Amino acid sequence: MNQVEIRFSALLSNEAFARTAIAAFCAQLNPSMEELVEIKTLVSEAVSNAIIHGYKMDGSRDVYVNANITNKMVEIVVQDYGVGIEDIELAMQPNFSSLKNKEHSGMGFTIMQTLADDLQIRSVYGLGTKVIIKKKLMPVELEEVM
Ligand SMILES: Nc1ncnc2c1ncn2[C@@H]1O[C@H](COP(=O)(O)OP(=O)(O)O)[C@@H](O)[C@H]1O
Ligand SMILES: [Mg+2]
Repeated sequence: MNQVEIRFSALLSNEAFARTAIAAFCAQLNPSMEELVEIKTLVSEAVSNAIIHGYKMDGSRDVYVNANITNKMVEIVVQDYGVGIEDIELAMQPNFSSLKNKEHSGMGFTIMQTLADDLQIRSVYGLGTKVIIKKKLMPVELEEVM
């Protein structure tokens, strides 16, 4: 197994770092541009949730992102030790947001479910949330002949 882990302050200004770092790690699998955009979107949605919802933008807290590659599959784990999710099923409903406004459309989990090959949410209310994203990557050469 080949893995990396990053840890950063729960500030939205670090979200671009997180998505770019994980995309750069995945580049060794020679993903297509489309797959790279999808990976960035997955990381972006999960990390922004950890910062905004989990930690309420408390920059003294840390978000952890681990990525590991096995064969042509990447697994990305985004972990916070923030407020946790009381009702995961409700939180995953399209359009559900506890912060409903223009910027929080409540579509984050729906987008993640669409882009990931497998998505798991583990959360303990009051303790934190772990989002486990699995995505298969097809090398560009292979994609071209198929
Ligand atoms: N890491 C997290 N910690 C606590 N609550 C979360 C976390 N991630 C998601 N949630 C809850 O799930 C809801 C739905 O998340 P999401 O689909 O991304 O929509 P949005 O971020 O637009 O509210 C959030 O409004 C929030 O209540
Ligand atoms: Mg969200």
